[in-house]
This record gives sequence, C-alpha cells and structure tokens, in this order.
Amino acid sequence: MKKVRKAVFPVAGLGTRFLPATKAVPKEMLTVVDRPVIQYVVDEAREAGIEHFIFVTGRNKAVIEDHFDIQFELNHTLAQRGKDDQLARLQRLQPLAGQTSFTRQQEPLGLGHAVWCARDIVGDEPFALLLPDMITLPDQGCMKSMVELYERTGTNVIAVEECDPEEAHKYGIVGKGANIHTGFEITGMVEKPKKGTAPSNLFINGRYILQPEIFKILENQERGAGNEIQLTDGMLKLARKQKFYGFHYRGRTFDCGSPEGFVEANVAFALSRPDMRAKVADLIEGLVADFGPVRRRSAS
Ligand code: UTP
Repeated sequence: MKKVRKAVFPVAGLGTRFLPATKAVPKEMLTVVDRPVIQYVVDEAREAGIEHFIFVTGRNKAVIEDHFDIQFELNHTLAQRGKDDQLARLQRLQPLAGQTSFTRQQEPLGLGHAVWCARDIVGDEPFALLLPDMITLPDQGCMKSMVELYERTGTNVIAVEECDPEEAHKYGIVGKGANIHTGFEITGMVEKPKKGTAPSNLFINGRYILQPEIFKILENQERGAGNEIQLTDGMLKLARKQKFYGFHYRGRTFDCGSPEGFVEANVAFALSRPDMRAKVADLIEGLVADFGPVRRRSAS
C-alpha cells in the first residue's frame, strides 16, 4: 500500500462570501487568533505525516507563498533583539526546502477543477486534500486519524461530522453503512440535499484522502451545481469503482469562509488556549453585557 505523502490545498477560490475583506487579501490569510487560517491546515497535515504541501493558487494569492518562505530580515532582527521564542516558533512552522509546490488554477472553475490542477505534482499515489477555509478544533488530529484509517483500508477516506438534521441541506452529506475499523462504509454522497431527503446528518467537513484515479475522472467531469466542476460529482463516479470509508470526526469544524464562521472560530480557538482562556472568557462576558441581546448593564 502506498503511503499518503502529499497534501493538496486548493486556495484559488474568490472568497465572495467574505468581500470586501478578500478583495486583495486571500481568505486563507485571515488570522484566527495569531495564525493565518492556512497555517492551521498545513500544521494538521504535517502532524498526519504529510511530507509535501501542494497549493493550488490563483491571482492575488502570492502572499500565501511568501508566508511559507523564510523571511531573512525578520529572522535576523528577531535574533538580534533576543526574541528567541518568536524565532523558534517561526522556524518550527517553516516547511523544509523542496517541501512545497505551487500551481495555478487560472480560472476558478470549481473545487473539482482545482484538485485536477494538482494532478502532475501528486502523480500516481494517494493524496490528502484539505479545504483550507475549514479548520478543526482540536486543531490537529482529524487528518492523522484519517491516515490511520487509510492504512487499514487502503482506499478513499472522507471525514464527516454531525450537523443539526434541519441544517443538512446546506452541506455535502454521506449515507452510513457498516462500521469498519475506526470508520464506516459510505453508501452514498449527496451535495446539498433537498430538505427532508438527506440520508443522514453526517456532513463532509473538508478533509479527504483520495486515490489518484480521481484525476482521470475530473479531467472529463462536466460542470455541475453552480456551473462549477464539482469534486462530489467526481467522487460519486469513483465510488462506482472503489470503496469510500467515512471517518466520524468528534471535534468541531469551523467554516472560516463566512464572516460568522470566522468570528466563531476566533472565539473558540481563543477559548481553547490555556494562555488566554480566562481573559477572553471575561472579555466575552463583558461584551455580551454591553453589546449583546441582553443589555444587562444598560438596563440596570
Ligand atoms: P468555497 O466555495 O468555499 O470557496 O470552496 P470560494 O469559492 O472561495 O468561496 P465563496 O463561496 O466565493 O465565498 C472551497 C475551497 O475550494 C477552493 C476555495 O479556495 C476553498 O478553499 N476553490 C474553490 C478553488 O481553489 N477553486 C475554485 O474554483 C473553487
């Protein structure tokens, strides 16, 4: 069985839900607490044993490449000023030379098309796919557990999480079959099912391990919903030939591609940090009192 060594990060979307913030700044570079969103997903992949990080970028995304480069002046200044902790942290997060690749999706034709753009860099081996605007809390562990499940099943793995059944129409939903190892057989996949028709309340949270045969399918994939080349359509075709397993992620995934999800992520990640939990909890309590729906302070 081939090891999962490479991860693809599609970062070529326009981020229209987050305009005007994303007019010049990629949404993947917006900051959750003190790290850009893209850093969380790269760290999650690295923890899972990924050795090569492939970014499918578009126009206005060059800053992502800069973020994963060495900033010599900054490192030099930090060293001169004795800021060893900050320097060590930057160095820990730095990919090694040759561990990153960047390719362009010239037009945002859809997630399926973005993944297809990585075909030559991935080659003939299974790969991890992480949607960079979806970040998980605990902020590591989801992809690591998926790789463990892949190593026992040798096929495609998709992470899912429970949602309120009333909200299932907003997501990609899978059907659940028999439990196998730490996962279960996926019996079907449907993108944004009509209300009341979802096969379960398990939504795809933006983490996949896919076999390279997906590329041939995506190459000929017609446009689907939203006039875009959809990954789910490609996976449905692949599922006719290969098994798909689900990994039920028990943490929480935050959609940082929408302003509400992004604010929620900032609050949750700050509250999960032992060094800031107490202070942030106090701040939130005070802010809710001052600006929240129950204006206790002004009412008294
Ligand atoms: P989204 O649909 O969430 O991203 O795609 P978007 O299109 O940037 O967002 P909105 O709806 O306009 O606000 C999921 C992921 O796939 C990437 C996005 O960058 C995001 O990480 N993507 C999407 C591409 O790389 N290329 C595409 O053509 C579409």
